[in-house]
Amino acid sequence: MVRDKILVIGANGQLGSVLSVALQKIFGKENVILSDIKPNPLFESHFEKIDAMVYDQIEYVVKKYSITQIYHLAAILSAAGEKYPLRTWRLNMEMMLNVFEVARKNSVSRVFFPSSIAVFGKNVARSKAIQTSFINPSTVYGISKAAGENWAQYYFDQYGLDVRSLRYPGIIGYKSMPGGGTTDYAVEIYHSAVKKEKYICYLNPDTKLPLIYMDDAIHATIEIMQTPIENIRIRTSYNLASMSLSPIEIALAIQKIHPNFKVDYYTDFRQNIAATWPSEIDDQQARKDWNWQPKYDLTQMTKIMLEQLEKKYKKN
Ligand code: SER
Repeated sequence: MVRDKILVIGANGQLGSVLSVALQKIFGKENVILSDIKPNPLFESHFEKIDAMVYDQIEYVVKKYSITQIYHLAAILSAAGEKYPLRTWRLNMEMMLNVFEVARKNSVSRVFFPSSIAVFGKNVARSKAIQTSFINPSTVYGISKAAGENWAQYYFDQYGLDVRSLRYPGIIGYKSMPGGGTTDYAVEIYHSAVKKEKYICYLNPDTKLPLIYMDDAIHATIEIMQTPIENIRIRTSYNLASMSLSPIEIALAIQKIHPNFKVDYYTDFRQNIAATWPSEIDDQQARKDWNWQPKYDLTQMTKIMLEQLEKKYKKN
């Protein structure tokens, strides 16, 4: 049996840093090569510095370790991307196309490419974005993900490259920080609560968005990558849903444990982005094709987030 050799690109990011450790636990450290543009003190072994803008750097590592699967997680997110629209487009597209090209030319059998709720825009039913909803993203990040989904389909149809993808909701976890997203508030709010600080929220209190607890996001990612090829029926990207929450709902859940916790609301441009995203997405297809089922709700997630962050801040 040929063992899979995995390469994670973007291993230092919010999802990458947690997913990398989960993959290493399952496949063994020696079979999971981590990479990012900067070294990471947490990942001393099995780490390669890769600038995914440079095709040769990816190919060198793929050849060196005979990589069979790539998780390509590097991207500029929705809010940060709006500051430099053309740069964001170039980076997100170039990195992705480099990965797809290296994969098809070097017999990498499977690629994971993350998409996002950001592919949806004003023309989608905010209350429920179905799998086949029209996608007309409002941010450059969303446009790059929508294009990426179509490229994933193209590489599968033209070259048989087995690219698999999820439209992630905003991800909430305690082990890592998000950077530059519109849903970052949902992690920051827990940090403020534990530090006993007031949180200044840049979204309106009632702005509901799809969100997911980190462990569920990891489990969905590993699950879709393990599913037999004949069960993968969506070759663009699967809608993935878990919770649908607004800042006030998270604040109230935190206040049940920290009654003195306070939030003020001062919206900025990120409110305009959130207003174009659906509040809920329909993930029936993922549930049907590969038995997707989230495990965590707001109460469980809040308890874990607060307990784990307490420990983390006490240690430091
Ligand atoms: N969490 C991401 C963002 O806010 C969505 O994919 O940009």
